[in-house]
Amino acid sequence: MARLDGKVAIVSGAAQGLGEAYARALAENGASVVAFDVQASIAEVAASIAADTGQRVEGVVADVSLKEDCQRIVNDTVANFGGFDILINNAGTWKETPVDSSWEQTVADWDFIMDTNLKGVLMLSRLAVPKLRERGGGDIVNISTYYVLPARSNGTNQAHTDLYNASKWALNGFTDAWAKSLAKDNIRVNGQCMGATDTPMLRGLFDDNQLPPDMAAVVMQPADIAQQMIDLINDGRSGENIGAWVGYPIELPPTPAAHRLVSG
Ligand SMILES: NC(=O)c1ccc[n+]([C@@H]2O[C@H](COP(=O)([O-])OP(=O)(O)OC[C@H]3O[C@@H](n4cnc5c(N)ncnc54)[C@H](O)[C@@H]3O)[C@@H](O)[C@H]2O)c1
Repeated sequence: MARLDGKVAIVSGAAQGLGEAYARALAENGASVVAFDVQASIAEVAASIAADTGQRVEGVVADVSLKEDCQRIVNDTVANFGGFDILINNAGTWKETPVDSSWEQTVADWDFIMDTNLKGVLMLSRLAVPKLRERGGGDIVNISTYYVLPARSNGTNQAHTDLYNASKWALNGFTDAWAKSLAKDNIRVNGQCMGATDTPMLRGLFDDNQLPPDMAAVVMQPADIAQQMIDLINDGRSGENIGAWVGYPIELPPTPAAHRLVSG
C-alpha cells in the first residue's frame, strides 16, 4: 500500500517544472491530485500522470492570483473528491527588478510577483484551512527558495531580485505563524527552500533555454525535490524551512526538538 493512499492533494502551478514533479510524486505515492495552472497544457500533463500512475489526477486551468479561481479550486475539489488533505503552494513567478528600475516597472513587477507568490498563497491557504480541519488535519507546503536560508557559497542569495526575495521571505511569515496556529488542528505547515533546479523557469534565464555546462552538471532535478516533499509529509514535522542546495544531498535535516513539540 502506498503511503498516501486515500489522500487528496491540490498542487498549484503544476503544468511544468517543480509543480508537475510534485503532482507526479503525490500520485506515485497513492494520492489523488488536483493539479492546476494558468496554462491550458495542464490537462495533458494531468492526463499523462494519471495514465502513468493509475491515480485520479485532474488538470484544471486556474490562476492562483484570482480570488474566484481559488474559490473554484477549493470548492470543486471538495465537491468532486469529498475533501482534501494536502496543499502544495508551488505556483510562483520570478523576475529581476534591480533597485534602479523605473518607478512604473517596479510597481508593475510588485503586483506581478506578489499577486501570485504571496496573495495567491494566502487566498488558497485561507480557503483550504477549514477544509483540512474537516478532514482532521493535513499538510500545507509553501514552495520558497534557498535565498531565505543562510548562504552556503559565494554568489548565492541574489541581490538583484529584491521583489522575488521579499515574496519568499514573506512566505516564511505564513509558514511560521500558520504552523503555530494550526498545530492544534493537526495541520502541519512547512516551507521547501531549494536552490537551482532544472525547470523551465531556470532555463528561461539563459539563451535558447540552455543551462550553461557548469550548471547543467550540478543542477538539482525536480523529481528529487519532489521526493524530499514526500519525505517531509511522511515525517510529520511542522514549522520548518527545509533546504536543498546544489552540491549537497537532498534530504530532510534532523528535526529540532522544538519542532517535534509543535507538531505534537
Ligand atoms: N527552479 C528553481 O531553481 C527554483 C528555485 C527556488 C524556488 N523555486 C520555486 O519553485 C516554484 C516552481 O518553480 P519552477 O522552477 O517549477 O517554475 P516554472 O516557471 O517552470 O513553473 C511554474 C508554474 O507555475 C505556473 N503559474 C505561474 N503563475 C501562476 C498563477 N498565477 N496561477 C497558477 N499557475 C501559475 C506557470 O504557468 C508554471 O507552469 C516557484 O514558486 C519558484 O519560485 C524554483
